[in-house]
Amino acid sequence: MTVMRHVRDRVRREARRSARRVAPAARTAAQRVREAVPESVRKELYPVVPWRPWRVDVRLEDLLLGVMGPQTASEFAESSHDLLWPSTRLAEGPHVQLLADVDRGELTDAEILAHPYGEMGRTCLRLHGRYFWATDDEGVVDVARDFIRRYRGEVPTRTRAHQSPAGSPLMVAPVRWTSGLHQIVDGHHRAAIEFRRGRRTLPAKVKWLPVTTPLQDLLNQMSWIGGEKELYQPIDAPELREAWVTVRRCTDRLEKMVALLDDLGISAGGRRYLDVACCYGWFPAQMEARGFDARGIERDPLAPRLAEAAYGLSPDRVLVGDAVDLLASQESPHDVVSCFSLLHHFVLGRGSTTAEELLSALDRATGSVLFIDTGQGDEAWFADSLAGWNPAHIEAYLRRHTSFDDIIDLGPDEDAVGPFRDNYGRHLFACVRRDR
Ligand SMILES: C[S@@+](CC[C@H](N)C(=O)[O-])C[C@H]1O[C@@H](n2cnc3c(N)ncnc32)[C@H](O)[C@@H]1O
Repeated sequence: MTVMRHVRDRVRREARRSARRVAPAARTAAQRVREAVPESVRKELYPVVPWRPWRVDVRLEDLLLGVMGPQTASEFAESSHDLLWPSTRLAEGPHVQLLADVDRGELTDAEILAHPYGEMGRTCLRLHGRYFWATDDEGVVDVARDFIRRYRGEVPTRTRAHQSPAGSPLMVAPVRWTSGLHQIVDGHHRAAIEFRRGRRTLPAKVKWLPVTTPLQDLLNQMSWIGGEKELYQPIDAPELREAWVTVRRCTDRLEKMVALLDDLGISAGGRRYLDVACCYGWFPAQMEARGFDARGIERDPLAPRLAEAAYGLSPDRVLVGDAVDLLASQESPHDVVSCFSLLHHFVLGRGSTTAEELLSALDRATGSVLFIDTGQGDEAWFADSLAGWNPAHIEAYLRRHTSFDDIIDLGPDEDAVGPFRDNYGRHLFACVRRDR
């Protein structure tokens, strides 16, 4: 008993210490507890210590996909290369999708295996050697059909291997920095069945400690934002909606770019686009979706993973390194180049070269059009350091230090709102070559 109390106190101490850390707190807590406590004791404590003793009604709409077999949601996301697995609502996940599809018509075995549910089962086979009692494709189909039968009200005759016994509660963990989202620890199938039957809430066994998602962890680690709950480019994920503020809407700049390129007859058709200091890769992803052969350059080594997870951009589309070095290593110019909100860092002496050298490198890397914006002196945080850097000065500066024929002021962004109302409103400039 004394040993148990000692271990429990140690677990709580570890948990509290980890919870105080910035990110990824809950995952770190779990890891530290695992290291601190022998496995046999952990097994004994697991059904009790991490869980609130009472049941909580959780909204099925607010459940996110979670633990898969022996892996935590984050581990599964990592090893299945699906970083957004724990950012996906159960309602939009493979379990609910399968039930919705069989409501529309029966599925053949081949259709089940090709279905996101079948793919998920096969991923588990690959990663864990089993999916519930399945050890091959035939087994995955059997698990799926068992699930469908239970949905249709057929009472299972027995509990199969690695299935929770009938009547087991849904088990969830709160998702950090949200007020109502929960990650599923056990019960994806049960919750999906109840959701499809139209139930809104289920009583659940809830963990004390919140979990973080890999997306939250990555964002917290990105060097640029430095742990602030800010998104420099839009990322649509349920667990970011409450605590994260989108700083730049980006769509305003993109619309201006696309409109000008249309006017100039430079629309897609495999033309090459390069975004310098691309952050999470929103602009390359948007331009790729419009048919451009798009890439980004970004100093932060986490950018390729985030770009892939958030926007489906292939990680090899984001070149990691210093903008000036990577621009110099480009073999031929790109038709369209953009460089947003980087220049002033060089003006302020935070770059690897002078601002003029950065501009020259951008100039050489551009075949037809360079889009550029920069911090301005009329922004509260640059009132002293960038005094005089108004749109007229920036236009003249671009004219003086580049070889473009036309410098066009496309007007300010729309980001000077809410907490940023005294900042932004940066003018977007298009630097255009007539000889294209
Ligand atoms: C203010 S954010 C701008 C992001 C993006 N261009 C936009 O406007 O949406 C600056 C970005 O530039 C990156 N960065 C800063 N200095 C850099 C350098 N020397 N080379 C490459 N990237 C750099 C930062 O990591 C950060 O992602």
